[in-house]
Amino acid sequence: MTPRKAPESLRSHRWLGVNDMRSFGHRSRLRQFGYDAADWGGKPVIGIINTWSDINACHGHLRARAEDVKRGVQQAGGFPLELPAMSLAEPFVKPSTMLYRNFLAMETEELLRSHPIDGVVLMGGCDKTTPALIMGATSMGIPAIYVPAGPMLRGNWRGNQLGSGTDAWKYWDEKRAGNISEDDWAEIEGGISRSFGTCMVMGTAATMMAIAEAMGMTLPGASSIPAVDSSHARMCAAAGRRIVDMVWEDLTPGKIITSAAVDNAIRVHMAMGGSTNAIIHVIAMARRAGLKLDMRRFDEISREIPVIANVRPSGQYLMEDFFYAGGLRALMAELKDKLDLSCTTVTGKSLGENIAGAAVYHPDVIHPLRDPLYAEGATAVLTGNLAPDGCVMKPSAAEPRFLHHRGKTIAFEDYNEMAREVEREDLDVTADHILVLKNGGPKGGPGMPEWGMLPIPRKLVKAGVRDMVRISDARMSGTSYGACILHVAPESYVGGPLALVQTDDEIEVDVARRRIHLHVSDEELARRRAAWTPPPPRYERGYGAMFSQHVAQADQGCDFDFLEGTAATAEPEIH
Ligand code: FES
Repeated sequence: MTPRKAPESLRSHRWLGVNDMRSFGHRSRLRQFGYDAADWGGKPVIGIINTWSDINACHGHLRARAEDVKRGVQQAGGFPLELPAMSLAEPFVKPSTMLYRNFLAMETEELLRSHPIDGVVLMGGCDKTTPALIMGATSMGIPAIYVPAGPMLRGNWRGNQLGSGTDAWKYWDEKRAGNISEDDWAEIEGGISRSFGTCMVMGTAATMMAIAEAMGMTLPGASSIPAVDSSHARMCAAAGRRIVDMVWEDLTPGKIITSAAVDNAIRVHMAMGGSTNAIIHVIAMARRAGLKLDMRRFDEISREIPVIANVRPSGQYLMEDFFYAGGLRALMAELKDKLDLSCTTVTGKSLGENIAGAAVYHPDVIHPLRDPLYAEGATAVLTGNLAPDGCVMKPSAAEPRFLHHRGKTIAFEDYNEMAREVEREDLDVTADHILVLKNGGPKGGPGMPEWGMLPIPRKLVKAGVRDMVRISDARMSGTSYGACILHVAPESYVGGPLALVQTDDEIEVDVARRRIHLHVSDEELARRRAAWTPPPPRYERGYGAMFSQHVAQADQGCDFDFLEGTAATAEPEIH
């Protein structure tokens, strides 16, 4: 493609194109790799931020895929440079990857700022990596395209299809109830994760990859391709080709992530039955693009958009089936009358152009709008005296009887107390009780761990109970399910009303009215507040201390106060 701006205007020109002692050093160090001026001269330098690592099987194929991206960059006349970044493997990082989402966002932004990069291909997929990479690239403000890792293949155990997380929780309860053996459990362990790629239910990873596509930040259809499908490698090469043109076109994330694009993303999230975690991440991403967004918008849209993706945990199928059914392009085509099709995407074309011709091939996997899986969207936002700044729930994944429920509480001060108590055979609990967990929020967790799907007490599991109302300021995995009310804001650790709940209080949940109410008088709450003392700091030094000082509450997106917004950051001096 003919350059639309002069090569001298490229950012990288300041490092590589001038004739001084410093640029001599830069060029000589590239020659050290065996490159020559033919590799970089006058070409856009494309950073490939790769979150591959030996500890993250969700990204296990991204080491090889980076070579496909490089192939595409070179085909289009760019110069690719791969830069490794924090991998954020959801199963391994403790206490929670959420503690490090902002870390990866900062790392992405600063890797791009400090190096001679003109455009970037972002490679991620495991839960927090998608928002983190996009947040960082958005703040940096150079052209960026997102390459989603894609879901792993379906799990399999004795002919039963297994979904990541969702079926682990399910069979764990069967094991606790004595319904399956240790040998069965070991076989499930070997069958539930059969290939590289992200969790293959509609967890946070699948949700956020779809949101990135709906927002316009991926190539059309990219988010649905299974990680090990050969079309994934072709998509990576195509992304490499496209980013070079995006540099010449100066097509930055700020031109793509508009209010209308964010609304499209929220609509798709609702139609997918997406993870509750998406609320936090979409707010954070939108705010990096300078947009005002709060949880109310999610609730407004949830009342308009039904769930049409029949994928676990809300539905029956897995992401591999979703791909064969036509993938996200097909879902968006089904939803097209609800979307703003004029939004610009990384292709340089509109969303409407990107989904033209898409069709649903398996209507049981992607339902028609007139026959939804669940009449309203995936996520409800509740408010009330227990959560003045809101809390969230996934009604489509809960037993319907809990959508309007009043019950006595059993309150736990922290995770360890809860984990101990729920195993007690003599715990005074019924299925109508409401379990309350404190100190699982952004500062209290810290990092808002995915503790929100509190285990059903052992004695109830044995009696066949599989759902009950559970309330916390923590998050829950997108693979989880049940009547779990999450993200209570403000959190208990900073003195939110959740901190004042005691065992045997009564709480009422009314999802239709979007209300949550603690039935304790204002006088009694004032008395409890006067007696409440803040817990000690979780971290005295290091990143954890910085996190605790600067992280925003869940309803604000949990970004750091000094990273939000669009204030300009100076380009580095090159001397
Ligand atoms: Fe990586 Fe679920 S563990 S996406």
